Amino acid sequence: MNILLVGSGGREHALAWKIAQSPLLTRLVMAPGNPGMEGLGDLRPVKATDVPGLVALAQEMTADLVVIGPESAVEAGLADALAAAAIPCFGPSRTAGQLESSKAFTKAFCERHGLPTGAYVVCDEAGAAKAALDRFSPPYVIKADGLAAGKGVVIAATRAEAEAAIDDTLGGRFGAAGARVVIEEFLEGEIGSLFALCDGTHSLVFGHAQDHKRAYDGEQGPNTGGMGTYAPAPLFTDDLIDRVRRELAEPTFAAIAAEGAPYRGVLFVEFMATRDGPRLVEFNVRFGDPECQVLMLRLESDLVPYLAACAKGQLDRLPAPAWRDEAAVCVVMAAQGYPDAPVAGAPVTGADQAFGDGVVVFHAGTARDADGTLRAAGGRVLNVCALGADFPAARQAAYAAVDQIDMPGGFYRSDIGWRALNR
Ligand code: GLY
Repeated sequence: MNILLVGSGGREHALAWKIAQSPLLTRLVMAPGNPGMEGLGDLRPVKATDVPGLVALAQEMTADLVVIGPESAVEAGLADALAAAAIPCFGPSRTAGQLESSKAFTKAFCERHGLPTGAYVVCDEAGAAKAALDRFSPPYVIKADGLAAGKGVVIAATRAEAEAAIDDTLGGRFGAAGARVVIEEFLEGEIGSLFALCDGTHSLVFGHAQDHKRAYDGEQGPNTGGMGTYAPAPLFTDDLIDRVRRELAEPTFAAIAAEGAPYRGVLFVEFMATRDGPRLVEFNVRFGDPECQVLMLRLESDLVPYLAACAKGQLDRLPAPAWRDEAAVCVVMAAQGYPDAPVAGAPVTGADQAFGDGVVVFHAGTARDADGTLRAAGGRVLNVCALGADFPAARQAAYAAVDQIDMPGGFYRSDIGWRALNR
């Protein structure tokens, strides 16, 4: 098969790494890709939001399948344009993609279909938003309505912080994504990420993981896109997986199809395991980043048949995927100043060495100079991942690799998976 993979982050590097192992693959083209993906296929400098450019590239390479990595490409309407060109695509339509691109849409969708989630209010004016805080108790959850790369969420301990977050969001900090603010009930419990594939009709659970959203150790600091992940997380009992599938994933696929936008791709269900059962925190319409990295390390089955089956409505022909028994850990190395103002340009050394069995370093935000020097070129720079016989072994191997990589000014969390260690 000729496959075009769209995107350039650590998630896409992990997908490319796994796709490249498939015996079904003839040619892999990545657009635009990143320096870590060199050697897995051909890199082409077409942006993830350049819909006409990507359709032209897919036609030129006679792609049998286009795999959408990031939500920006979903929001740009890439799946719709590929459908019009009769090119199979793993990734939902723009309409179904509203499950991520508008938090207000998703909350109203949950309300329409009786899906379990927290109470909420949507406002586009600061005075009304601040008054609406009366209906909630601290901590306050303030979110930009649109796509903000995981950074448009503030958990405010006090009313003053909540009001500042409202001013910040509606004041343009996230551009058009912050034209509306969503105030949500704070849900108590432990958070989890569950992934489910859907081909428009059939669906199946496709792994789970736990992420650390806050920038610093001890769950301190600003929200980020994710600072590290691990799988399997002890939170995910068979019973919980089953409940999230039955109470959130499957009803969502049925409801979005009933609303005329059948879902094709992966749905990332971020939920809170509360005392009353799983409650939706938010949906994402793509693999999690960096959840995907630990999923790909643990996935024993060939990924490509699953991606193709979603695009072609054939998921019912495949068994549940097989996973390795080993645990996987991912530690994100971030640039100085991430998430607010990441500093680009720091030289990164040691990332390209061989670290031994089971360790893989995915590039997330890097650039390579003409002389081969690798540099930080994004907020999250590297995803240092390891498999181990158990969680402590995987964690030890990941941090041993982190110790061998140098990036002046960069930082990482040293407590990835603390919940699993403390159990
Ligand atoms: N790691 C969370 C996300 O991908 O949005």
